[in-house]
Amino acid sequence: MLPKHISIIAPTYNEVKNVIPFAERVKTALADHDWELLFVDDNSADGTAQKAFDYGKIEPRVRPIIRFTDRGLAKSSIQGLLSARGDLLCVMDADGQHDPAVVIEMVERLEREGLDIVSAARRLEDDQALEGLSPLRRKLSQIGNAFSSFVIGRKLSDPLTGFFLIRRDRFLKLAPELGDPGFKLLLDILYTDKTLRHGEVFFDFGTRLHGTSKLDSHVLWKFATFLMSKMTRGILPANLISFLFVGGSGVFVHFAVLYAALGLSASFATAQTVATLVAATSNFLLNNLLTFHDRRLRGPRLVSGYLKFLAVSAVGIVANVSAATLAYENLIHVVFIATLAGIAIDTVWKFVIANRFIWK
Ligand code: GDD
Ligand code: MN
Repeated sequence: MLPKHISIIAPTYNEVKNVIPFAERVKTALADHDWELLFVDDNSADGTAQKAFDYGKIEPRVRPIIRFTDRGLAKSSIQGLLSARGDLLCVMDADGQHDPAVVIEMVERLEREGLDIVSAARRLEDDQALEGLSPLRRKLSQIGNAFSSFVIGRKLSDPLTGFFLIRRDRFLKLAPELGDPGFKLLLDILYTDKTLRHGEVFFDFGTRLHGTSKLDSHVLWKFATFLMSKMTRGILPANLISFLFVGGSGVFVHFAVLYAALGLSASFATAQTVATLVAATSNFLLNNLLTFHDRRLRGPRLVSGYLKFLAVSAVGIVANVSAATLAYENLIHVVFIATLAGIAIDTVWKFVIANRFIWK
């Protein structure tokens, strides 16, 4: 009854033990249909892609797509969506939390109502149906949902779900406009194309078969800055927002160190130099962890990146200290204002260089 070809796109990162159980479930659920299953793997160290490749020998409808750079769930999903050959494309988790049997329901709903996209919503009010989520994650999901519905201007039961089905032709049209929403691709799709006819089905969010979740605080941070960026209509990119937040935290660090040093009767210029250096270090580390997480520097590259950061921002540091000192000595005899003037000059300079030279 459904002649359409269905592609399942399952992003994976260290899911070796889940590959076969998941593929088997897909095979059973879609037995009456024409389908393929793509595991889009970010070069997992545990051999996930090899497992999918081996399985493909006995079941050629299954194959891996291997990625080496620019890790990420949304980015992997997009790549899978672009590489699939189905008319209907379904993105879902490969860890057993999304039941492939629901896909059929989504397809039927989409066909019956002539929709472009159908998402599978977790029942967020129903505690029993959410056994796969910790109480904290549950609360975060509820808050995130409300906020997200506001940003995309549609009321959805679960805009943050990672489980959705979309028509290939509609996806190809909107794909060039997509950003990098971290885990929340559905949200970006609905935001990008407001003309999509959308529907929801409900499902029980299961527990993981094996392994652990990859949703960490960085993913949440990325999502928060992504939402804020959308709220500025994209005028401020998510990266810049993150950079400014880190900069803001640096201002606190700066003042704390400055007053501490002045308290220890350091001269204004010395206190200013120390404060600037400490704040620069804290900014560097936080930007490495949050703003440029995907291009994060580690080990020796972290050290050389830090030295580069200090070297390149030496101009900013000198400008900062001298502007502050000058202001302090000649114009405004106020530590606070003089320091702010210095930080302002420094921030502009650092923003220009960070993206270009350090996390390139
Ligand atoms: N390729 C790739 N790259 N896959 C990834 C990455 C990545 O960086 N991170 C996670 N994945 C894969 C996992 O291997 C799994 O198959 C799927 O994406 C979901 O990842 P989990 O780490 O299990 O996420 P979760 O269960 O905490 O979150 C899920 O539920 C959220 C709603 O609570 C996901 O479906 C989210 O998209 C969803 O918002
Ligand atoms: Mn999961």
